[in-house]
Amino acid sequence: MKNLKLILMAGILIFGLSACGKTNVNQESTQQETSSVQAEDKVVTENVEASEDKAEVKAGVFDMEKKIVRLNSGYDMPIVGLGTYALSDEECYNSVLALLENGGRLIDTAYMYHNEAAVGRAVRDSGIPREEIFVTTKIYPTQFDDPKAAIDLALNTLDIGYIDLMLLHHPGTGDVAAYKVMEQYVADGKIKSIGLSNWYVKELDEFLPQVSITPAVVQNEIHPYYQETDVIPYIQDLGIVVESWYPLGGRGYTKALLTNDTIVKIAREHGVSAAQVILRWDLQNGVIVMPGSSNPEHIKENLDVFGFALSDDEMEQIKALNRDEKHDWY
Ligand SMILES: NC(=O)c1ccc[n+]([C@@H]2O[C@H](COP(=O)([O-])OP(=O)(O)OC[C@H]3O[C@@H](n4cnc5c(N)ncnc54)[C@H](OP(=O)(O)O)[C@@H]3O)[C@@H](O)[C@H]2O)c1
Repeated sequence: MKNLKLILMAGILIFGLSACGKTNVNQESTQQETSSVQAEDKVVTENVEASEDKAEVKAGVFDMEKKIVRLNSGYDMPIVGLGTYALSDEECYNSVLALLENGGRLIDTAYMYHNEAAVGRAVRDSGIPREEIFVTTKIYPTQFDDPKAAIDLALNTLDIGYIDLMLLHHPGTGDVAAYKVMEQYVADGKIKSIGLSNWYVKELDEFLPQVSITPAVVQNEIHPYYQETDVIPYIQDLGIVVESWYPLGGRGYTKALLTNDTIVKIAREHGVSAAQVILRWDLQNGVIVMPGSSNPEHIKENLDVFGFALSDDEMEQIKALNRDEKHDWY
C-alpha cells in the first residue's frame, strides 16, 4: 500500500513537471533553450484552421484561428500586422493606434525609418498590455561597428521594455559580430527573438554556420510579381519563418498589383479587395505580412483576411503571375 502511494505521488510529480515545461504563448522558454531543438522542425506551410489539440503548437505552422505562428525561439508572432516604412512620426503614431484598435498586434519598424519613438509611444498609449503586442525593429549596416550601442539605442528609443524581434536590416561588414551581440541580448531577455532581413540562399549558407541561434525570421521582398519561389521553401526548411516586405509591391507599384486582372477576378469572387487576396495568398504560403499604410480603413481591411480562403487553383493562378520583378535593389 505504502509503495502504491509512493508510485502514485511520483507519477503526479512527473506529470506536473512535464506540464510546467510546455511553452507558454509569450514567454517562459528562452531562445537559446529552444532553438537547437525546434530549428530542426521544418516550417510547415499547411494552415491550421481548427486544431484539435491547441496545447501542442508546432513551430512554423500558421494558426489561422489565433492568427499567430510559433517561432523556433518558442515565442508566438502575429501573422498579419503593420509596416511603418516611410511613415512620419504623426502618421506612424496614428497608424499604430489604428492597428491596435482594430485588433492587430504586429508592428514592423527599423532604425532606418526614424519612427521607433512614435511606435513606442503608440504602444505605451494604447493601453494594451505590452505582452500582447509584438514589435520588430532592425539595426542597419552602418551601425554594425558598434552593435551594442545600436541595440541600446533601439531599446531606449522604443522604450517598451524589450524588443520582440530584432533583425539585421541587410548583410554588411560586421554582420556576424552584430548578430552575436544580439544573441547576448537574447540571453539577457532584452530581445526575445532575432533574425535577418534581405538574406537569400547564398547569404544564409555563409552566415548560419557562424552563429549559435538559428534566426527565427527572415524578412525579404515578396509579392505576386516577385515570389522568391526557390528562396521561401529553402528558408522554411531551415525552420525559419519567412516574412514579406513590399507585400503589395511597395509604393509606386501597388496600383499595378491591385488592378491585376487575375487578382481582381479572384477578389470579386470572394467579395474582398485585391489587397486582401494578396495578403491571404501570402498567409497560405506560410509568409507573414505587414503591409504599410497610413490609412485607417486600409489598416482595418488588411487585418480582415481570415474570413475567406483561396482554393488551390486560385493559389496557382497567382503563382503564375510571378515575373521575378524586384521593386528595390536589395
Ligand atoms: N526589410 C526591408 O528591407 C524592408 C524594405 C521595405 C519595407 N519593409 C517593411 O515592409 C513594410 C511593407 O512595405 P511598404 O509599406 O513599403 O509597401 P507595401 O506594404 O507593399 O505598400 C504600401 C502601400 O500600399 C498602400 N496600401 C496599404 N494597404 C492598402 C489597401 N488595403 N488598399 C490599397 N492600398 C493599400 C499604402 O497606401 P495607404 O497609406 O494609402 O494605405 C502604401 O502606399 C514596410 O512598411 C516596412 O515595415 C522592410
